[in-house]
Amino acid sequence: MSRYTELQQELRAAPRTWLITGVAGFIGSNLLESLLQLEQNVIGLDNFATGHQHNLDKVEASVTPDQWRRFRFIEGDIRSMDDCKNACDSADYVLHQAALGSVPRSLEDPLTTNDNNITGFLTMLVAARDAKVKRFVYAASSSTYGDHPGLPKVEDRIGNPLSPYAVTKVVNEQYANVFARCYGMESIGLRYFNIFGRRQDPDGAYAAVIPKWVASMINDEDVFINGDGETSRDFCYIDNTVQANLLAATAQKEGAANQIYNVAVGDRTTLNALYTEIRDLLEPKFPHLKNKKPVYRDFRAGDVRHSLADISKSKELLGYEPTHRIGEGLKEAMDWYVEDLS
Ligand SMILES: NC(=O)c1ccc[n+]([C@@H]2O[C@H](COP(=O)([O-])OP(=O)(O)OC[C@H]3O[C@@H](n4cnc5c(N)ncnc54)[C@H](O)[C@@H]3O)[C@@H](O)[C@H]2O)c1
Repeated sequence: MSRYTELQQELRAAPRTWLITGVAGFIGSNLLESLLQLEQNVIGLDNFATGHQHNLDKVEASVTPDQWRRFRFIEGDIRSMDDCKNACDSADYVLHQAALGSVPRSLEDPLTTNDNNITGFLTMLVAARDAKVKRFVYAASSSTYGDHPGLPKVEDRIGNPLSPYAVTKVVNEQYANVFARCYGMESIGLRYFNIFGRRQDPDGAYAAVIPKWVASMINDEDVFINGDGETSRDFCYIDNTVQANLLAATAQKEGAANQIYNVAVGDRTTLNALYTEIRDLLEPKFPHLKNKKPVYRDFRAGDVRHSLADISKSKELLGYEPTHRIGEGLKEAMDWYVEDLS
Protein backbone atom coordinates (compact mmCIF):
# COMPACT_ATOMS: atom_id res chain seq x y z
CA MET A 1 0.00 0.00 0.00
CA SER A 2 1.36 3.47 -0.86
CA ARG A 3 2.05 5.98 1.90
CA TYR A 4 -0.66 8.20 0.40
CA THR A 5 -3.31 5.46 0.59
CA GLU A 6 -2.33 4.82 4.19
CA LEU A 7 -2.49 8.54 4.97
CA GLN A 8 -5.96 8.87 3.46
CA GLN A 9 -7.17 6.11 5.79
CA GLU A 10 -5.55 7.80 8.79
CA LEU A 11 -7.14 11.14 7.96
CA ARG A 12 -10.60 9.63 7.56
CA ALA A 13 -10.23 7.93 10.95
CA ALA A 14 -9.06 11.11 12.71
CA PRO A 15 -10.09 14.27 10.82
CA ARG A 16 -7.93 17.39 11.19
CA THR A 17 -8.52 21.07 10.49
CA TRP A 18 -6.78 22.54 7.45
CA LEU A 19 -6.43 26.12 6.30
CA ILE A 20 -6.14 26.55 2.53
CA THR A 21 -5.20 30.04 1.36
CA GLY A 22 -6.03 30.74 -2.28
CA VAL A 23 -8.90 28.26 -1.91
CA ALA A 24 -10.92 29.73 -4.81
CA GLY A 25 -8.04 29.24 -7.23
CA PHE A 26 -7.00 26.28 -9.33
CA ILE A 27 -4.78 24.36 -6.89
CA GLY A 28 -6.57 25.58 -3.75
CA SER A 29 -10.01 24.42 -4.94
CA ASN A 30 -8.60 20.99 -5.80
CA LEU A 31 -7.06 20.70 -2.34
CA LEU A 32 -10.43 21.69 -0.87
CA GLU A 33 -12.29 19.04 -2.86
CA SER A 34 -9.90 16.25 -1.85
CA LEU A 35 -9.84 17.21 1.82
CA LEU A 36 -13.63 17.45 2.07
CA GLN A 37 -13.94 14.06 0.37
CA LEU A 38 -11.67 12.75 3.14
CA GLU A 39 -14.11 14.15 5.74
CA GLN A 40 -11.66 16.85 6.90
CA ASN A 41 -12.55 20.25 8.36
CA VAL A 42 -11.39 23.04 6.08
CA ILE A 43 -11.06 26.79 6.46
CA GLY A 44 -10.53 28.68 3.19
CA LEU A 45 -9.18 32.19 2.65
CA ASP A 46 -9.29 34.04 -0.67
CA ASN A 47 -9.77 37.60 -1.94
CA PHE A 48 -10.87 36.49 -5.46
CA ALA A 49 -7.95 38.36 -7.07
CA THR A 50 -7.55 35.54 -9.60
CA GLY A 51 -9.79 32.89 -8.03
CA HIS A 52 -13.49 32.42 -8.70
CA GLN A 53 -16.69 31.74 -6.79
CA HIS A 54 -17.56 29.22 -9.54
CA ASN A 55 -14.59 27.07 -8.44
CA LEU A 56 -16.08 26.87 -4.96
CA ASP A 57 -19.53 26.16 -6.43
CA LYS A 58 -18.09 23.26 -8.41
CA VAL A 59 -16.49 21.80 -5.31
CA GLU A 60 -19.79 22.14 -3.46
CA ALA A 61 -21.50 20.22 -6.27
CA SER A 62 -18.92 17.41 -6.09
CA VAL A 63 -19.15 16.70 -2.35
CA THR A 64 -22.01 15.71 -0.06
CA PRO A 65 -23.96 18.37 1.90
CA ASP A 66 -22.41 16.97 5.10
CA GLN A 67 -18.91 17.33 3.70
CA TRP A 68 -19.64 20.87 2.49
CA ARG A 69 -20.76 21.85 6.00
CA ARG A 70 -17.19 21.15 7.17
CA PHE A 71 -15.96 24.09 5.09
CA ARG A 72 -15.75 27.65 6.41
CA PHE A 73 -14.92 30.33 3.83
CA ILE A 74 -13.40 33.68 4.72
CA GLU A 75 -13.32 36.31 2.00
CA GLY A 76 -10.15 38.12 2.97
CA ASP A 77 -6.61 39.05 2.10
CA ILE A 78 -3.32 37.46 3.11
CA ARG A 79 -1.89 40.99 3.48
CA SER A 80 -4.31 41.64 6.36
CA MET A 81 -3.06 40.34 9.71
CA ASP A 82 -6.65 40.21 11.05
CA ASP A 83 -7.77 38.02 8.14
CA CYS A 84 -4.75 35.73 8.53
CA LYS A 85 -5.22 35.39 12.29
CA ASN A 86 -8.92 34.68 11.87
CA ALA A 87 -8.13 32.04 9.24
CA CYS A 88 -5.36 30.34 11.27
CA ASP A 89 -7.50 30.05 14.38
CA SER A 90 -7.97 26.32 15.13
CA ALA A 91 -6.02 25.16 12.05
CA ASP A 92 -3.76 22.12 12.47
CA TYR A 93 -2.10 22.53 9.08
CA VAL A 94 -1.79 25.41 6.64
CA LEU A 95 -1.61 24.82 2.89
CA HIS A 96 -0.60 28.27 1.66
CA GLN A 97 -1.42 28.67 -2.03
CA ALA A 98 -2.48 32.33 -2.27
CA ALA A 99 -0.16 34.39 -4.44
CA LEU A 100 -0.16 36.21 -7.75
CA GLY A 101 1.17 33.71 -10.26
CA SER A 102 2.62 34.39 -13.72
CA VAL A 103 6.06 35.60 -14.78
CA PRO A 104 4.69 38.18 -17.31
CA ARG A 105 2.35 39.68 -14.70
CA SER A 106 5.30 40.21 -12.38
CA LEU A 107 7.35 41.83 -15.16
CA GLU A 108 4.51 44.28 -15.84
CA ASP A 109 3.73 45.04 -12.21
CA PRO A 110 6.50 43.90 -9.85
CA LEU A 111 5.22 45.97 -6.93
CA THR A 112 1.84 44.25 -6.76
CA THR A 113 3.42 40.82 -7.12
CA ASN A 114 5.88 41.68 -4.35
CA ASP A 115 3.11 42.94 -2.10
CA ASN A 116 0.96 39.81 -2.45
CA ASN A 117 3.70 37.22 -2.64
CA ILE A 118 6.17 38.54 -0.07
CA THR A 119 4.23 40.79 2.32
CA GLY A 120 1.25 38.43 2.11
CA PHE A 121 3.46 35.39 2.66
CA LEU A 122 5.16 36.95 5.68
CA THR A 123 1.83 38.00 7.19
CA MET A 124 0.55 34.44 6.86
CA LEU A 125 3.76 33.06 8.33
CA VAL A 126 3.50 35.29 11.41
CA ALA A 127 -0.18 34.44 11.91
CA ALA A 128 0.52 30.70 11.55
CA ARG A 129 3.44 30.94 13.97
CA ASP A 130 1.31 32.74 16.56
CA ALA A 131 -1.51 30.22 16.13
CA LYS A 132 1.04 27.42 16.69
CA VAL A 133 -0.08 25.41 13.69
CA LYS A 134 1.54 21.99 13.38
CA ARG A 135 3.03 22.70 9.96
CA PHE A 136 3.01 25.38 7.28
CA VAL A 137 3.15 23.92 3.77
CA TYR A 138 3.51 26.50 1.01
CA ALA A 139 3.51 26.73 -2.78
CA ALA A 140 7.07 27.37 -3.87
CA SER A 141 8.03 27.30 -7.53
CA SER A 142 10.38 25.72 -10.07
CA SER A 143 11.10 29.31 -11.19
CA THR A 144 13.51 29.38 -8.23
CA TYR A 145 15.98 27.34 -10.32
CA GLY A 146 16.35 30.44 -12.51
CA ASP A 147 19.44 30.38 -14.69
CA HIS A 148 20.99 27.25 -13.19
CA PRO A 149 21.78 25.11 -16.23
CA GLY A 150 21.73 21.70 -14.51
CA LEU A 151 19.12 19.11 -15.50
CA PRO A 152 17.35 17.48 -13.81
CA LYS A 153 16.75 20.11 -11.15
CA VAL A 154 17.86 19.07 -7.68
CA GLU A 155 16.52 20.99 -4.70
CA ASP A 156 19.82 22.30 -3.32
CA ARG A 157 21.21 23.63 -6.62
CA ILE A 158 19.55 26.87 -7.66
CA GLY A 159 20.65 29.74 -9.89
CA ASN A 160 19.67 33.41 -10.10
CA PRO A 161 15.98 34.25 -10.46
CA LEU A 162 14.91 35.41 -13.94
CA SER A 163 11.81 37.42 -13.02
CA PRO A 164 10.28 39.39 -10.14
CA TYR A 165 7.88 36.46 -9.62
CA ALA A 166 10.84 34.11 -9.15
CA VAL A 167 12.40 36.53 -6.64
CA THR A 168 9.23 36.39 -4.54
CA LYS A 169 9.30 32.60 -4.48
CA VAL A 170 13.00 32.55 -3.48
CA VAL A 171 12.28 35.01 -0.66
CA ASN A 172 9.38 32.83 0.55
CA GLU A 173 11.76 29.92 0.99
CA GLN A 174 14.23 32.12 2.85
CA TYR A 175 11.57 33.45 5.21
CA ALA A 176 10.32 29.94 5.92
CA ASN A 177 13.87 28.80 6.71
CA VAL A 178 14.45 31.76 9.01
CA PHE A 179 11.17 31.10 10.84
CA ALA A 180 12.29 27.50 11.39
CA ARG A 181 15.65 28.65 12.81
CA CYS A 182 14.44 31.59 14.86
CA TYR A 183 11.03 30.45 16.07
CA GLY A 184 11.19 26.67 15.69
CA MET A 185 8.29 26.78 13.24
CA GLU A 186 7.84 23.75 10.98
CA SER A 187 7.34 24.36 7.28
CA ILE A 188 7.70 22.62 3.95
CA GLY A 189 8.07 24.35 0.59
CA LEU A 190 6.75 22.53 -2.47
CA ARG A 191 8.43 23.67 -5.66
CA TYR A 192 5.65 23.12 -8.16
CA PHE A 193 6.65 22.50 -11.76
CA ASN A 194 3.96 23.39 -14.33
CA ILE A 195 0.78 22.09 -12.70
CA PHE A 196 -2.31 21.46 -14.81
CA GLY A 197 -5.80 20.02 -14.50
CA ARG A 198 -9.47 20.78 -13.84
CA ARG A 199 -10.37 24.33 -12.84
CA GLN A 200 -7.14 25.89 -14.12
CA ASP A 201 -8.24 29.22 -15.52
CA PRO A 202 -8.15 29.35 -19.36
CA ASP A 203 -9.02 33.08 -19.49
CA GLY A 204 -6.99 36.23 -19.32
CA ALA A 205 -3.58 37.44 -20.42
CA TYR A 206 -1.78 35.41 -17.78
CA ALA A 207 -3.43 32.02 -18.31
CA ALA A 208 -1.16 28.97 -18.20
CA VAL A 209 -0.27 27.24 -21.43
CA ILE A 210 -2.43 24.08 -21.25
CA PRO A 211 -5.83 25.66 -20.48
CA LYS A 212 -5.08 28.55 -22.84
CA TRP A 213 -4.27 26.23 -25.74
CA VAL A 214 -7.23 23.96 -25.05
CA ALA A 215 -9.61 26.95 -25.08
CA SER A 216 -8.03 28.33 -28.27
CA MET A 217 -8.21 24.96 -30.03
CA ILE A 218 -11.84 24.37 -29.07
CA ASN A 219 -12.75 27.88 -30.26
CA ASP A 220 -10.63 27.52 -33.43
CA GLU A 221 -8.43 30.48 -32.53
CA ASP A 222 -4.68 30.82 -33.16
CA VAL A 223 -2.48 28.86 -30.77
CA PHE A 224 0.77 30.70 -30.10
CA ILE A 225 4.07 29.06 -29.23
CA ASN A 226 6.65 31.40 -27.74
CA GLY A 227 9.98 30.56 -29.38
CA ASP A 228 10.78 27.50 -31.48
CA GLY A 229 8.65 25.08 -29.49
CA GLU A 230 11.63 23.14 -28.19
CA THR A 231 11.32 24.79 -24.77
CA SER A 232 10.51 21.97 -22.36
CA ARG A 233 8.67 21.56 -19.09
CA ASP A 234 7.94 18.87 -16.51
CA PHE A 235 4.14 19.08 -16.59
CA CYS A 236 2.52 17.77 -13.41
CA TYR A 237 -1.12 16.76 -13.04
CA ILE A 238 -3.14 18.27 -10.20
CA ASP A 239 -3.78 14.94 -8.44
CA ASN A 240 -0.02 14.53 -7.93
CA THR A 241 0.08 18.03 -6.43
CA VAL A 242 -2.74 17.35 -3.99
CA GLN A 243 -0.95 14.17 -2.93
CA ALA A 244 2.30 16.07 -2.32
CA ASN A 245 0.55 18.65 -0.13
CA LEU A 246 -1.16 16.11 2.11
CA LEU A 247 2.02 14.07 2.46
CA ALA A 248 4.07 17.19 3.22
CA ALA A 249 1.71 18.38 5.95
CA THR A 250 1.88 15.08 7.78
CA ALA A 251 5.32 13.62 6.94
CA GLN A 252 7.02 12.31 10.06
CA LYS A 253 10.20 10.78 8.63
CA GLU A 254 13.31 12.12 10.28
CA GLY A 255 14.62 15.13 8.40
CA ALA A 256 11.41 15.58 6.37
CA ALA A 257 10.33 18.88 7.95
CA ASN A 258 11.84 22.28 7.12
CA GLN A 259 12.77 21.15 3.65
CA ILE A 260 12.03 22.08 0.05
CA TYR A 261 10.70 19.45 -2.37
CA ASN A 262 10.18 19.27 -6.11
CA VAL A 263 6.62 18.45 -7.12
CA ALA A 264 6.63 17.12 -10.67
CA VAL A 265 6.71 13.82 -12.48
CA GLY A 266 10.28 13.62 -13.73
CA ASP A 267 9.33 13.70 -17.45
CA ARG A 268 10.27 16.41 -19.92
CA THR A 269 7.84 17.48 -22.67
CA THR A 270 8.56 20.10 -25.33
CA LEU A 271 5.91 22.64 -26.28
CA ASN A 272 5.81 21.15 -29.78
CA ALA A 273 5.08 17.69 -28.35
CA LEU A 274 2.50 19.16 -25.98
CA TYR A 275 0.75 20.88 -28.89
CA THR A 276 0.48 17.62 -30.81
CA GLU A 277 -0.69 15.67 -27.78
CA ILE A 278 -3.49 18.13 -26.95
CA ARG A 279 -4.58 18.44 -30.58
CA ASP A 280 -4.73 14.66 -30.97
CA LEU A 281 -6.83 14.31 -27.84
CA LEU A 282 -9.30 16.98 -28.96
CA GLU A 283 -9.50 16.11 -32.66
CA PRO A 284 -12.09 13.29 -32.38
CA LYS A 285 -14.58 15.79 -30.86
CA PHE A 286 -13.37 18.81 -32.84
CA PRO A 287 -12.58 17.73 -36.43
CA HIS A 288 -11.58 21.30 -37.40
CA LEU A 289 -8.29 20.62 -35.56
CA LYS A 290 -7.12 17.94 -38.03
CA ASN A 291 -4.54 20.08 -39.83
CA LYS A 292 -4.26 22.92 -37.34
CA LYS A 293 -0.72 24.30 -36.92
CA PRO A 294 0.62 26.50 -34.14
CA VAL A 295 1.76 30.08 -34.73
CA TYR A 296 5.34 30.67 -33.62
CA ARG A 297 6.35 34.01 -32.12
CA ASP A 298 9.24 35.44 -30.06
CA PHE A 299 10.59 33.80 -26.94
CA ARG A 300 9.01 35.27 -23.82
CA ALA A 301 11.16 37.32 -21.43
CA GLY A 302 11.86 35.68 -18.07
CA ASP A 303 11.11 32.15 -19.27
CA VAL A 304 13.42 29.28 -18.38
CA ARG A 305 14.45 27.23 -21.45
CA HIS A 306 14.26 23.73 -20.00
CA SER A 307 12.78 22.37 -16.85
CA LEU A 308 12.86 18.85 -15.52
CA ALA A 309 12.67 17.75 -11.90
CA ASP A 310 14.54 15.18 -9.92
CA ILE A 311 11.79 13.89 -7.62
CA SER A 312 13.86 11.39 -5.63
CA LYS A 313 13.88 13.54 -2.48
CA SER A 314 10.06 13.87 -2.48
CA LYS A 315 9.77 10.12 -3.01
CA GLU A 316 12.18 9.23 -0.27
CA LEU A 317 11.21 11.65 2.51
CA LEU A 318 7.52 12.24 1.76
CA GLY A 319 6.56 8.91 0.19
CA TYR A 320 5.41 10.82 -2.91
CA GLU A 321 4.47 8.60 -5.85
CA PRO A 322 2.93 10.48 -8.77
CA THR A 323 -0.15 8.64 -10.02
CA HIS A 324 -0.44 10.52 -13.32
CA ARG A 325 2.14 11.07 -16.02
CA ILE A 326 1.44 13.85 -18.51
CA GLY A 327 -0.57 11.71 -20.97
CA GLU A 328 -2.89 10.38 -18.27
CA GLY A 329 -3.33 13.82 -16.76
CA LEU A 330 -4.03 15.44 -20.12
CA LYS A 331 -6.70 12.88 -20.92
CA GLU A 332 -8.54 13.56 -17.65
CA ALA A 333 -8.07 17.31 -17.91
CA MET A 334 -9.26 17.34 -21.52
CA ASP A 335 -12.53 15.59 -20.64
CA TRP A 336 -13.08 18.22 -17.99
CA TYR A 337 -12.24 21.16 -20.28
CA VAL A 338 -14.37 19.87 -23.11
CA GLU A 339 -17.34 19.66 -20.76
CA ASP A 340 -16.60 22.98 -19.12
CA LEU A 341 -15.65 25.08 -22.15
CA SER A 342 -17.92 23.69 -24.84
N1 LIG B 1 -0.09 26.48 -11.40
C1 LIG B 1 1.22 26.28 -11.48
O1 LIG B 1 1.72 25.66 -12.43
C2 LIG B 1 2.14 26.78 -10.41
C3 LIG B 1 3.52 26.57 -10.55
C4 LIG B 1 4.37 27.02 -9.55
C5 LIG B 1 3.85 27.64 -8.43
N2 LIG B 1 2.51 27.86 -8.33
C6 LIG B 1 1.99 28.53 -7.13
O2 LIG B 1 0.88 27.80 -6.63
C7 LIG B 1 -0.03 28.67 -5.98
C8 LIG B 1 -1.44 28.47 -6.53
O3 LIG B 1 -1.42 28.72 -7.92
P1 LIG B 1 -2.69 28.48 -8.86
O4 LIG B 1 -2.17 27.99 -10.15
O5 LIG B 1 -3.74 27.72 -8.13
O6 LIG B 1 -3.14 29.99 -9.10
P2 LIG B 1 -4.60 30.68 -8.95
O7 LIG B 1 -4.41 32.08 -9.44
O8 LIG B 1 -5.64 29.84 -9.59
O9 LIG B 1 -4.81 30.66 -7.38
C9 LIG B 1 -4.28 31.62 -6.50
C10 LIG B 1 -5.39 32.01 -5.54
O10 LIG B 1 -4.86 32.93 -4.57
C11 LIG B 1 -5.80 33.99 -4.40
N3 LIG B 1 -5.07 35.18 -3.93
C12 LIG B 1 -4.13 35.88 -4.62
N4 LIG B 1 -3.71 36.92 -3.87
C13 LIG B 1 -4.38 36.86 -2.70
C14 LIG B 1 -4.39 37.65 -1.54
N5 LIG B 1 -3.63 38.76 -1.43
N6 LIG B 1 -5.20 37.30 -0.50
C15 LIG B 1 -6.01 36.21 -0.60
N7 LIG B 1 -6.05 35.41 -1.70
C16 LIG B 1 -5.25 35.75 -2.73
C17 LIG B 1 -6.43 34.18 -5.77
O11 LIG B 1 -7.66 34.85 -5.73
C18 LIG B 1 -6.54 32.74 -6.24
O12 LIG B 1 -7.77 32.17 -5.84
C19 LIG B 1 0.55 30.08 -6.17
O13 LIG B 1 1.30 30.40 -5.03
C20 LIG B 1 1.46 29.93 -7.36
O14 LIG B 1 2.50 30.89 -7.37
C21 LIG B 1 1.65 27.43 -9.29
